[in-house]
Amino acid sequence: MCEVPFAFTPDPRVAPPSEPLTLFHRRLSDLEGCFRDSQAYARARRAQDDIVYTVVQNSPPRDTSHVLTGTCFLQPGKIGDEFYLTRGHTHVAERAEMYHCAAGTGLVLMQRGERCEVISLTPRAIVYVPPGWAHRLVNTGPAVLVTVFAVAADAGHDYEYVRAHPFSKTIVERDGQPLSIAAIE
Ligand SMILES: [Fe+2]
Repeated sequence: MCEVPFAFTPDPRVAPPSEPLTLFHRRLSDLEGCFRDSQAYARARRAQDDIVYTVVQNSPPRDTSHVLTGTCFLQPGKIGDEFYLTRGHTHVAERAEMYHCAAGTGLVLMQRGERCEVISLTPRAIVYVPPGWAHRLVNTGPAVLVTVFAVAADAGHDYEYVRAHPFSKTIVERDGQPLSIAAIE
């Protein structure tokens, strides 16, 4: 629990970070079912269970008086023609979230019901994720996408909702450019 003041500078090379921050990795094997090309996913996972993203964050008490904040380092890469992405989640509680892009190029996918929004992330961009929208990051660039997030500490992460209600769009590379397409053809 971090109930003392702290500051951090996003740097994935600092591992593990010092208190009060913690670090965790998400590998290809943690992203089962997230990519549209299941054969390409299986091949990539057999070849090497790569780290797709790393999160460094605080561990605040889970109440609205605190903020869960940290940084996501999403590696560049693709499964087939689909760019690396995070699992995505909704919040258990009706809580908004802020993203700040510190480095790299990518997108935030946000879905609520049938509506799917694709928001660009470039350095210094700030993105507001309203309550009730599922959200996921996508790295469409050649470098690590570094994103700082802040959300009420009692928000909670619901990954099963996204599994049951997948994002309707995904981002693939076409002629060297990212393109939003229907996730299920
Ligand atoms: Fe979130």
